[in-house]
Amino acid sequence: MKRPIIAIDGPAAAGKSTVAKRVAEKLGYIYIDTGAMYRAVAWKALKEKIPITDHARVTALANRIDIRFEKANGEQRILVDGEDVTEAIRTPESSRLSSAVSAIKGVRKRLADLQRKMGEAGGVVMEGRDIGTVIFPNAEVKVFLTASSEERARRRTNQLREIGIDADVEEVAREISDRDLRDSSRSEAPLKQAPDAVLIETDSMSVDEVIDKIIALHNERISSRSTESKSAD
Ligand code: DC
Repeated sequence: MKRPIIAIDGPAAAGKSTVAKRVAEKLGYIYIDTGAMYRAVAWKALKEKIPITDHARVTALANRIDIRFEKANGEQRILVDGEDVTEAIRTPESSRLSSAVSAIKGVRKRLADLQRKMGEAGGVVMEGRDIGTVIFPNAEVKVFLTASSEERARRRTNQLREIGIDADVEEVAREISDRDLRDSSRSEAPLKQAPDAVLIETDSMSVDEVIDKIIALHNERISSRSTESKSAD
């Protein structure tokens, strides 16, 4: 039987990557960070000096570049045309540009095609903004992960400091709220909770508690499947 697709959506800095990565490790599933793919397109556009306002050129770029995930020393890396951009795509400028890039219809189409190919076989944990609503509306496990804006700003500031970026918590809070507003108000695949997604509010939860909750949802789906198939026999 095909293994499930676990879709994890939510606003910026809600802890999706940390949780999605660990859930995938625990289940032996593939982890796919779709935000990194939008960031990769933004990074390449910046490198090639293509203005993000030039939608036709950014779309042509998205259609032309090779984006792939690879594992090195147990860590997932993202490569754009063979170049490792894992750290380069995490700067505040990349965050801002990736949100603008993600509103371009042609870019979304190309990345959606890639994401569906990467996930169609199942056994994946895919995180983003539109996974449960648009990419895999039939995903068996759907989670909408969120936290208060203060908590998200605090977490993102710490993450940036860990990679050597001198971040100011108020500036980070502004950047996150601007990005959420743009991501949830765009016409193409806006950020929103799928009606059948389970909402997890993480302010007062530890990372392990969030992971356990998602694994439990996954295991419930698997066992309800076997009950369904037995009753169909
Ligand atoms: O998850 P992230 O913060 O790395 O994502 C960067 C940007 O990409 C985010 O501001 C919105 C966009 N994005 C999207 O539109 N759809 C996705 N599935 C994932 C990310």
